[in-house]
Order: sequence, then C-alpha cells, then structure tokens
Amino acid sequence: MPTDLEHLPREPGVPKPDPILVVDNMRKRFGGIVAVDVDHLEIQRGAITALIGPNGAGKTTFFNVLTGFDKPDEGHKVFDGETIDRARPHRLAQKGMVRTFQLTKALTKLAVIENMKLGAKDQKGENFARSLITPIWKKQEKEIEQRADVLLEKFQMDQMRDEYAGAISGGQRKLLEMSRSLMTDPKLVMLDEPMAGVNPALKQKLLDHVRGLKDQGITVVFVEHDMDVVQGISDWVVVMAEGAIIAEGPPRSIAENKKVIDAYLGAHHDAPLDLDQEQAFLAEDMAEEQETEEQ
Ligand SMILES: Nc1ncnc2c1ncn2[C@@H]1O[C@H](COP(=O)(O)OP(=O)(O)O)[C@@H](O)[C@H]1O
Ligand SMILES: [Mg+2]
Repeated sequence: MPTDLEHLPREPGVPKPDPILVVDNMRKRFGGIVAVDVDHLEIQRGAITALIGPNGAGKTTFFNVLTGFDKPDEGHKVFDGETIDRARPHRLAQKGMVRTFQLTKALTKLAVIENMKLGAKDQKGENFARSLITPIWKKQEKEIEQRADVLLEKFQMDQMRDEYAGAISGGQRKLLEMSRSLMTDPKLVMLDEPMAGVNPALKQKLLDHVRGLKDQGITVVFVEHDMDVVQGISDWVVVMAEGAIIAEGPPRSIAENKKVIDAYLGAHHDAPLDLDQEQAFLAEDMAEEQETEEQ
C-alpha cells in the first residue's frame, strides 16, 4: 500500500501515486461567499489525510459536497475510478464512501445497538419501516445485528450495547459515531472533527482506532482543529483557506509553511494552536514584516 508520500512535491493539487478520490474545479457559493473553490485535489488510497484550516475556511462545506450532502455549483469528483458527481449519500455509502455524523437528539433516545443497526440502513437508504415486516429482512436484520456486535466489541463498547446513546459519555459517543460508520464496510471514511470534546484518555483510544482503520486498509480523511492530533496520526495534510487549498504536504512540512501560518493568523480561529506555536508564528511573521519594510 503506497502511503509513503514524503517524496511528493508539496504543492496544492499535487497528483498522488494511487488516488481513491479525485476532485476537479469544485465550487460552492453562498450568496457572495465562495465557500469552496478547489481546482484539483487527490486523496491517496490507504492514507490518513487531515483537512485543516481556520474557521470559515470551507472545510465543512467541502466535506458536505464531497459526501453528497450538499450540491456544488460546479465541479467533478471521481471515487475509486468512477464519476460520482450526482451521487446521493446512500449511493456513495454503497460504493464505499461514508462520513460520520454527530448523533442527533432522536438517536440519543435509542440504545447503542439500535444506533449501530440504523447506521447500516440509513447509509444504505433502505426503508426502515419495510424492514420490520419483510421476511427477507429478518435474516438481514440478524446479520446486521451480528456485525454491529462484532464492531461494538472491537471498539470495546459491547458493555454499553443496551444503554441509551444519550447516557454514554461524549467520548464514547464519538466511538459510537466511528463504529457506526463502519457498518457498511467502507473503503473511505470521512470523519468530521472526531476528537472534538473528547477527554485526553479517550482521545488516545480514538487515535488508536483511526490508525486501526488504516491498518485494515481503509482510507481516512478527517477535519481536525487539534494540531497535535494532526501531527500525530496523519500521513498527509491539506490546508484550506477562503475555500481554496493553499498548501499540501506531510504534517511536519505544514507547520513550517508560511502560507499556512498567514492563513491562521489572518483569520479567526476558534481552537488556536498551542501557545508556544502561536508565539513562534507571531515572531516569524513580525520578522517577515520587518524585512519587507527594510527593502
Ligand atoms: N448554509 C450556509 N449559508 C450561508 N453561508 C454558509 C453556509 N454554510 C457555510 N457558509 C459560509 O461558508 C464559509 C465556509 O464555512 P464552513 O464550510 O462552515 O467553514 P469551516 O468548516 O472551515 O469552518 C463561511 O464563510 C460560512 O459562513
Ligand atoms: Mg466546520
């Protein structure tokens, strides 16, 4: 599995050795705002790719258009060699591309195991009511439940199987969101801020699970604010600002990238880098400014 991306040119839109997802000329506008303005992006198969950027950069909107939850104004995307421009989320799930969701209020009133089972059906776009009456479904229902139990055990959630999803901790809910997305046996999992609101102990466990997905051959793309997390698990980092991709590269190269530093300093950022990093960035920026003045 070619996940060694170190040697690639570190520039926006750089071709990958074996892309599972290719995006071209993707734009999404809200009134006068261009929320997504991506010329070209390739996501490497089998790798963990982080999508970062200041608040309002367009990460969530980009995620939504990639996963079919929002329609772009223009653009093309190819998943696993197949054009998926108009595919709805459940079609994408059938093809092997899923995203995690924060559990809605209604789902917190269901047991953990029911959430898992619904995960399979939601994503497949199947009719839940019909599933309760059709005999064929009884068999599939059993298989779905078995798969759910296997996943819950793997994520060490089996003891919470019959508890309400609303009664488990925030971190455990993140684990549930992740294991739920695996019900359809995906090739590509898109995680929207998988570590948000998770305590440090459970964060480690979640990180291990994300690495575990990669070990199973699943491609992972995730949006994340926490730079330690990004540095810790990603093979490749894509940076967005004002809708566009402004930088790409291995995690270490990104922290030193001038464009990235400027983007973060120039925008409001709701989860800042740690204080030391911020100080270093500010110092560098001031030095640069002085240089320009002296010229
Ligand atoms: N439904 C919407 N209607 C109008 N503007 C939106 C909508 N969703 C996002 N935006 C705008 O698009 C830009 C990108 O937002 P978003 O994708 O949420 O960024 P991020 O996830 O990186 O913080 C922002 O300027 C935001 O205000
Ligand atoms: Mg967002």
